[in-house]
Amino acid sequence: MTKDLVTVMKQEVGKAAANLVKSNSIIGLGTGSTTAYAIEYIGERLASGELTNIVGVPTSFQAEVLAKKYGIPLTTLDAIDHIDVAIDGADEVDPQKNLIKGGGAAHTREKVVDSLADQFIVVVDAGKLVDQLGSTFLLPVEVIPMAITPVTRQLEALGGKPELRMGIKKAGPVVTDQGNLVIDVKFDRIDNPEELESKINNLPGVLENGLFVGVADVILVGEIIDGKPSVRQF
Ligand code: 5RP
Repeated sequence: MTKDLVTVMKQEVGKAAANLVKSNSIIGLGTGSTTAYAIEYIGERLASGELTNIVGVPTSFQAEVLAKKYGIPLTTLDAIDHIDVAIDGADEVDPQKNLIKGGGAAHTREKVVDSLADQFIVVVDAGKLVDQLGSTFLLPVEVIPMAITPVTRQLEALGGKPELRMGIKKAGPVVTDQGNLVIDVKFDRIDNPEELESKINNLPGVLENGLFVGVADVILVGEIIDGKPSVRQF
């Protein structure tokens, strides 16, 4: 059976990011299906001896499980004083390299790790590129459970249409790695992502939202050109 094109783009871009990792470095390990390929290829390079002395900082339980599966040693932010490079996916990327993240409900820990990295490399397939954030994806907001109702009202007052994220193959809402809930918010336009990011984070009970403004350094885009996979960088 042939692999679908999106999977091929994700694999290629994951591999390209894994090839940028250098020996003797601390790596932020992102979350999602694209980053999963990067983690797998980093593990392969480590196992083959091409890469030595690396340690990962996971952004989620998913990243932690994958790193263990592929033999990448892990550490925590308490034990290190810097991160050399972070590799993570995104749900939308605009021309200014601003992002919406949180499709995997991991954006709070992702923002901590990705922001600390000397270099933050984003891995996406071409379908994630947008002219304006919010065009295709709802904005994820992590909220502590007791504040769900007031935060929902306040997000409406900011012009959004909020909906509580529900689990798949799990009855009830999605619960994050920190034990919180996620509200996905549709905004008709996000004209000023920086302003919206801080306005939402200022609502009492909000832990973090999925707008990543001015955090990404490099965007690697997996594409299919003339039927062949390729990776472009901006
Ligand atoms: C998780 C994220 C992911 O990086 C984002 O959802 C992209 O995932 P995928 O590579 O599976 O499309 O932000 O919170």
